[in-house]
Amino acid sequence: MDDDADILEILRMVLVAEGYEVVATALSSEVVTLVECERPDVVLLDVAMPGIDGFEVCKRLKARASTSEVPVIFLSAQHRNAEVIAQGLECGGHDYVTKPVQKPELLARIRAALRIRLYENELSLKNAHLEELNDQLKRLLERHEEYLGMASHDLRAPLMSLVGYSGLLMDGAYGPVSPKQVQIIRRFRILVSYMSSIVANLLDLESLERGSLRLYMQREDLASILTEAIELHGLAADEKEVSLALEAAPGAELPINADRNRMVQVLSNVIANAIKYSPPKQPVRIALQRHNGRAFVRVADRGPGIPLSERERVFQPFFQGSNRPSNGEKGAGLGLCIVKQLVDLHGGQVLIQDALGGGTCVEIDLPVFATDDSS
Ligand SMILES: Nc1ncnc2c1ncn2[C@@H]1O[C@H](COP(=O)(O)OP(=O)(O)O)[C@@H](O)[C@H]1O
Ligand SMILES: [Mg+2]
Repeated sequence: MDDDADILEILRMVLVAEGYEVVATALSSEVVTLVECERPDVVLLDVAMPGIDGFEVCKRLKARASTSEVPVIFLSAQHRNAEVIAQGLECGGHDYVTKPVQKPELLARIRAALRIRLYENELSLKNAHLEELNDQLKRLLERHEEYLGMASHDLRAPLMSLVGYSGLLMDGAYGPVSPKQVQIIRRFRILVSYMSSIVANLLDLESLERGSLRLYMQREDLASILTEAIELHGLAADEKEVSLALEAAPGAELPINADRNRMVQVLSNVIANAIKYSPPKQPVRIALQRHNGRAFVRVADRGPGIPLSERERVFQPFFQGSNRPSNGEKGAGLGLCIVKQLVDLHGGQVLIQDALGGGTCVEIDLPVFATDDSS
């Protein structure tokens, strides 16, 4: 708009000749309503007008949600006054054209403003789409967690019953069983306990990721925790003729602040892996050491070793590496992921290294229980 009727008409003609649809007004008080009704792609605004000046009109356009996005180009003779230009841009104007208006300049500036407007439109459409996708994803994830939690809870009890019944069967509580039947029941129990461990792991993972896992921390002896974890795997190690050797100063206590059951779970997982990925008849060496206020457990096997490229990923949920268990054992890729999160919660770290002479060495270090007289 321009308050000079002749200039207004000339501009209108120029723009119409270029193929633009033009709505013109000489009254600054009309502009906001006009823009609201007509929804133009760009507004040309004279700065010096009687009544409300161009800057004020621009501010009003920018203040309304329905008109704020329309780019405004100011027309003004006051081109020498840098302050006026700055004022125009500051109140939300896109651009500035000085009078007398040069047709090529005006058209170029209009095209530039339209281009920017187009990009902005595309961007906000894409943004809205992304937000929508994000919401969908969040909803899916919530539902997914809910299903997983429900399924795991509901599976736990019947699995425990299966273990119980099969134990009774094997012990002959329902009549004599042949050696072949005992063998089958034993296999059955291995599979059921594998299923139970998956369910338990899924539930642990769920509460770890929710941050709702409760730890019962107290002063514990890491040496005795380690011994308990090793004993849990005596049978599996014997079956595979893998020797589990503990290298630790005999009787030496190593106090840590820990949830005992969870720490047994951590070490048990790492020892289970060492047995699982070790070739039969190879030793698994377990060392316990205290150094600079930290307690170190190292579990080293003579297996294939974990490739460098997989050493970060083994801690991701469900990641199963290129190494396969050496005797048909099973896994769901949850062990190390839970190990790492539990060790983190105990203020420690898990490191995968090469074992001396080949194989994997998993090192866990934890802070030694802090008392006044210990380091
Ligand atoms: N001691 C090990 N020796 C070789 N590879 C291992 C060892 N421990 C773990 N891995 C590799 O890391 C992967 C992830 O381990 P884990 O999270 O315990 O899952 P799972 O044992 O159920 O496959 C395994 O699939 C295996 O490829
Ligand atoms: Mg494992």
